[in-house]
Amino acid sequence: MIKILITYLFIFATLSVRAEDGHKLWLRNSNPKPVNAVCTNSSPMLTIAIQELQQGWQGEANALVSLKIIHNKDIFRDGFKMTKNKIQANTEVGILYGVYELLRRQQTGEEIKEAIVNSSYERRILNHWDNIDGSIERGYAGLSIFWKKGKDSLVVTEKDKVLWKEYARANASIGINGAVLNNVNASPLMLSKAYLERVKSIAEVLRPYGIKTYLSVKFSSPSLMGGLKTSDPLSPEVIKWWNDKTREIYGLIPDFGGFLVKASSEGQPGPQDYGRTHADGANMLADALQPYGGIVMWRAFVYSATDKDRAKQAFLEFKPLDGQFRDNVIIQVKNGPVDFQPREPFSPLFGAMKKTTVMPELQITQEYLGQSTHLVFLSTMWEEFLKSDTYQEGAGSTIARCTDGSIFPQKYSAIAGVANIGLDMNWCGHPFAQSNWYAFGRLAWNNQLTSDQIADEWIKLTFHQSALNANQPRFSEDWKMNFLKPVSKMMLQSREAAVNYMMPLGFHHLFSATEHYGPGPWWAPKGMRKDWTPPYYHKADSAGVGFDRTKTGSNAVSQYHEPLLSQLNDVRTCPEIYLLWFHHLPWDYKMKSGKTLWDEIGAHYDNGVKQVREFQKVWDKVQPYVDNERFVQVQEKLHQQSENAQIWKDACLQYFQKFSRKPFPIDIQGPVNDLDELIKEDLGKH
Ligand code: GCU
Repeated sequence: MIKILITYLFIFATLSVRAEDGHKLWLRNSNPKPVNAVCTNSSPMLTIAIQELQQGWQGEANALVSLKIIHNKDIFRDGFKMTKNKIQANTEVGILYGVYELLRRQQTGEEIKEAIVNSSYERRILNHWDNIDGSIERGYAGLSIFWKKGKDSLVVTEKDKVLWKEYARANASIGINGAVLNNVNASPLMLSKAYLERVKSIAEVLRPYGIKTYLSVKFSSPSLMGGLKTSDPLSPEVIKWWNDKTREIYGLIPDFGGFLVKASSEGQPGPQDYGRTHADGANMLADALQPYGGIVMWRAFVYSATDKDRAKQAFLEFKPLDGQFRDNVIIQVKNGPVDFQPREPFSPLFGAMKKTTVMPELQITQEYLGQSTHLVFLSTMWEEFLKSDTYQEGAGSTIARCTDGSIFPQKYSAIAGVANIGLDMNWCGHPFAQSNWYAFGRLAWNNQLTSDQIADEWIKLTFHQSALNANQPRFSEDWKMNFLKPVSKMMLQSREAAVNYMMPLGFHHLFSATEHYGPGPWWAPKGMRKDWTPPYYHKADSAGVGFDRTKTGSNAVSQYHEPLLSQLNDVRTCPEIYLLWFHHLPWDYKMKSGKTLWDEIGAHYDNGVKQVREFQKVWDKVQPYVDNERFVQVQEKLHQQSENAQIWKDACLQYFQKFSRKPFPIDIQGPVNDLDELIKEDLGKH
């Protein structure tokens, strides 16, 4: 009888948590209390601020809330001053951000005391790798929200506008203030009149939310689109073409943000095709944008064959150009020197370009981190990166400080994240992938935030109603103990787990070349560019494994500043998390744990798999606190993640075993997948 009752209560509790499709993200305000919001000024943006207060107010009922534009020199740019019922800012967008902050604190139960809140970066931008046919490069959450295929592809519908508005609101609520609408591998058609008209429509929807629109441009557009014989950045007709095009754009979009450029990289055209430098190319575009206040974000993701070590190339090409860029050029640098791997040391360009503005490029979409199948909270990775010390201007020269204007005088400061957003109902594919969009926005606003704070906020905002049983308060002790705590812990461990089962101890680029999802450490077809193949990076042989980037190896360490340089160079002081990134070591090299390198590699892979199994258990236990829709979705994805983690482990360990010729460590679970079959299956995809 008791058992039946318990089952009944359990079903009742489960049913009483409302099913959710995840579309509302972290903006699931409900049952607002009445509020009386007054504002000294009026505008579309301030109207939104007032509406948001009315739709989400959780403070005292019928409170009077005043929004006021003032002049306060301690408030920078779009910052604001807040109290429980007053928001003051120098700008309208500051008021809007203040409202979102106030509401977030109410929703999460965070204390609201009088404070001035300023942003770390002036520009906080999402880079969409959306193609104009609606597909998304490295997108795992459906097609583009901006572009589509077909004969009506350029018609702007009401449905489009509703979606763009929801997108803009979600971004504004976490402080994102820019969006690059198309892929860095840009189509020249993007700059045609018809497409620019659509950009104008998008910009009109984003504008009241404080979001500027930017475009990726193809460097050879003057020839491809304009019919010119050349796209040489020093040619007067090319300069004129860009000037005219820029004028046309600003005629349509007066607050247009500027251009993002991938040039002379991975087959994309660039100034080097005409014997010019990156500075020549970037400055030409910067001059075209300068009269309108626009900026150029010029990417440093280049790896032509200037050196045998790909990890060194961006530095080799860009560092000598320091000081040659206009002040409205920002060099956009990926966090690591190679390519958004599960773990990389930071790119040595951070802090090294002292006379040039440098902005970090993070990847929110999980290209190499399990895409929309794996639960990986990226905040911890970004926090690790932002807090890394470059030592460029003495100890404490963290990347955060080198890029946000604290150390170098710079006209602009910016940070970008490659978006993980698509047409999927829940925007990001995996319900937990939303946390990465959220975390990017929060860190871009405040690069000192910690990942546990961000996880805490996100969980509260994203799942709070699920905790609402009729007689429970929003955040009961029970909910905090049995939902918030374990889920937060799982999120905070999730990136390290992925590193463990994919590429521990400094391994990188071990992924399968087709889809960048599963393992492919073996892939090296004849004639293939070596730096596109995993063996180039792991260099496993019978003597050992790892890429020797020490002074006697490729000497990539020399691109870092002392004392870091010596620390990384010396195998005894190099942090083990970067060991095989910088050192080629014998399989029986003694690790700090006392294990041999081979056994330690095994332990990491094994631990990664176990961690995911632990996540499955955690999630199963929180079922009573989550609506069924999201519960089942996450449960299924964790199941696939667990299987994929096992594949990673079995593939990598058995493959490396061929070189180490050592037995599987006795204290780890043996393989369950057959290596030959895994290889056959992977190669079959190519
Ligand atoms: C990665 C990614 C490409 C992308 C490139 C870039 O290599 O796989 O799809 O175009 O980065 O950042 O430009």
